[in-house]
Amino acid sequence: MTGLYVHIPFCAVKCFYCDFAAYSGQNKQVQRYLAALEAEAALLPPRVPDTLYVGGGTPSELSAAQVQELFAALRRAHPASRFVESTFEGNPESLDAEKLEVLARAGVTRLSIGLQTADDELLKSVGRRHTAADFARVFGLARAAGIPALSVDLMYGLPGQTLDSLRATLDFTLALAPDHVSLYGLQVEDRTLFAKRGVAEDSDLGRTMYEAALAALAAAGLERYEISNFARPGRRSAHNVNYWRRGEYLGLGCSAASFLDGVRSTNELTLAAYMGAVEAGRRPSAEGETPAGLEALGEEAFLGLRLIEGFEPSPALRAAFARPWDQLKSRALVREDGPRWRLSDEGAFVANDVFREFVPPFTLEEALR
Ligand SMILES: C[S@@+](CC[C@H](N)C(=O)[O-])C[C@H]1O[C@@H](n2cnc3c(N)ncnc32)[C@H](O)[C@@H]1O
Ligand code: SF4
Repeated sequence: MTGLYVHIPFCAVKCFYCDFAAYSGQNKQVQRYLAALEAEAALLPPRVPDTLYVGGGTPSELSAAQVQELFAALRRAHPASRFVESTFEGNPESLDAEKLEVLARAGVTRLSIGLQTADDELLKSVGRRHTAADFARVFGLARAAGIPALSVDLMYGLPGQTLDSLRATLDFTLALAPDHVSLYGLQVEDRTLFAKRGVAEDSDLGRTMYEAALAALAAAGLERYEISNFARPGRRSAHNVNYWRRGEYLGLGCSAASFLDGVRSTNELTLAAYMGAVEAGRRPSAEGETPAGLEALGEEAFLGLRLIEGFEPSPALRAAFARPWDQLKSRALVREDGPRWRLSDEGAFVANDVFREFVPPFTLEEALR
């Protein structure tokens, strides 16, 4: 399977925790950026992608006319694609009935809307422009527009967020009966306002919050299929599952990543550098890297383990990582399910510790194996 990711780096405001390639106050660049996306598409190797994911940034910052232009350009670039799934990300402040109609007509099958928290004071304190009521109104409009699957982005571990506040957010969200929920623990990223303010992650409270969320989401029929992702039956994100299964994908736009023929590459991170490269007729990515040896095997493990059902390791992975795997098993952080390797319930709480065993630098002993 092949995915197509398109990055739209425009936002109403920059949230205080966010380190994605996302700019506020730059919407005058949208037209030029759309032209660059189409030009970049012509530079990529030919593929017939099965899934489309327009993410950001905030794709809904595009006007209704610009959304139409974007989808027309993607159809020109990929005339043979019959996208089985087509996701679009948006925020409440930039979605209205007209734009939602356009998205439905353009063939969007999944709309992912950012809520983060239903606590209006907390929303303001992390730089968000919308209220919980704005979100609920837009969610209703998206249902009315007939977009088949609606997903909600939530966060836990925000400064000042309490367990009660998270519980109220989950109640609010689940009352809307979403098809899919993504739930992320705050990561304090360098270069963000939170990092400058010295905000710290609280792993104990984070774990309590994650556990509470797991229970509430499961009780509402949303099955956890990946560490941070929950879906009703048949509503998993096929595009994202393809990443974790190491399927190939094309990435368009600044900061977008591609994985083609075993080569990983990432585009220029800034809007200016990206548009400059494409307008000069160059592919906007540095030379790609081909993970090999232990690195490629480790990648097979830490991506496959993100899926709750796990994955079937290749014989080479089993052989190369036999010792760390046995150690993780003896600590009850992972388990074997027939031929599959997967995280244990405990391992899913400390997944980054588990994944560390599969990323460089490997211990000398492993490197010599
Ligand atoms: C890159 S945003 C794009 C979607 C949209 N702009 C929005 O704000 O909802 C995707 C999601 O990543 C999550 N996110 C962004 N920065 C994060 C951080 N530092 N820690 C945890 N989650 C984060 C938020 O839940 C956000 O909705
Ligand atoms: S979280 Fe979303 S809206 Fe906020 S800055 Fe990041 S991409 Fe933009």
